[in-house]
Amino acid sequence: MAYTVPKLTDYSEESLVAAAGEVVKQLNDESKAVTDEASWDAYRVRWTGRKNGITTQLNETWLKPAPGASKPRVGALYADLRSQIQRAVDEAKDRYRNVAILGDHARAKGLYPLDISLPGVRRTIGAEHPVMKTWREIVSVFQKLGYSVAEGPVVETDYYNFEALNFPPNHPARDTQDTLFIAGQQSKPQRERLLLRTHTSPVQIRTMEKMRPPIRIVIPGTVHRNDPPDASHSPMFHQIEGLAVDTNITFGDLKGTLDHAMKALFGSSVKTHFRPSFFPFTEPSAELYVTCFICGGSGKRGTDPCRPCKQTGWIEVLGCGMVDPNVFEFVKDNGYDPKKVSGFAFGMGVDRLALLKYGVDDIQLFFQGDVRFLQQFS
Ligand code: DAH
Repeated sequence: MAYTVPKLTDYSEESLVAAAGEVVKQLNDESKAVTDEASWDAYRVRWTGRKNGITTQLNETWLKPAPGASKPRVGALYADLRSQIQRAVDEAKDRYRNVAILGDHARAKGLYPLDISLPGVRRTIGAEHPVMKTWREIVSVFQKLGYSVAEGPVVETDYYNFEALNFPPNHPARDTQDTLFIAGQQSKPQRERLLLRTHTSPVQIRTMEKMRPPIRIVIPGTVHRNDPPDASHSPMFHQIEGLAVDTNITFGDLKGTLDHAMKALFGSSVKTHFRPSFFPFTEPSAELYVTCFICGGSGKRGTDPCRPCKQTGWIEVLGCGMVDPNVFEFVKDNGYDPKKVSGFAFGMGVDRLALLKYGVDDIQLFFQGDVRFLQQFS
């Protein structure tokens, strides 16, 4: 039943306020039905129409018959209601027009009722994380050299993380990578047991199983180690692996490629330096050092000692080497006969490079998600 203005019998303040409240409630309820020109027009006529609009009814049924003593009060109430009604009618018009402009989308999103004169909701913009920025920079240096990008699983099997990379079961070389193992795997054969990959190197094997040589790939990803967090360690961090396999790949190719990559990343004045090292999956193996880009290789900052390079003027940036023939043996059937192909591989820690590049002295800052920290690098 549509609302009609009731006759007033009681002119006490209390019942006047209650009756006026009912009018306002009806006014607002009915305005919700206004969605277009036609429904707005019906609303306008019902509330402000000269002949029998509710404003007119209020005048006829409330104000005119009001006893003399109550007239001023009812008059004020009437004037107030009349202007509220007029405002509601005007607003309903604005609203359906705005909604029509913004369309169903706005209504679906609950923006209705909408007042476009209000300031918008400002969403704070995040900042690119320095680790992801460094990640992208490194990947793009190698993409420009013709490398493609591969990724692999973070939960890995013992076979890919260790065995096929020439870490035999129970070999002490496994101890160099404090591993987080998935629980409850004891009933499986060792090579099938799951762990959180400790490096991105397992994706070397996964890629060589899928793609025949020649290949050139970079493999960015997340890795985990059982290291307690401190200023330079995090149980989760990021690596970028590289692998190039073809006929006649030499250590010279490795040196030339990485020397170019370091100059592209850190500036053309950096020098590179290879020192012998050991990794089970490369032979020979090396660690790559670049001249410290903080002190320029002098080991000093003004008169102070340079801390990032421990005053040596050199910073270790990655491990690398020629792919060990024992590794190729695991993928021999896919065209990787160690007598016919050779290759080089390298792996670097993205977080460490980001720390050095941006002069940050605590890796934990990278994992705290504080926008005020992150915005300093954007
Ligand atoms: N996977 C090694 C690590 O996490 C880094 C590494 C060294 C990767 C030598 C390589 C490599 O591909 O050839 O410590």
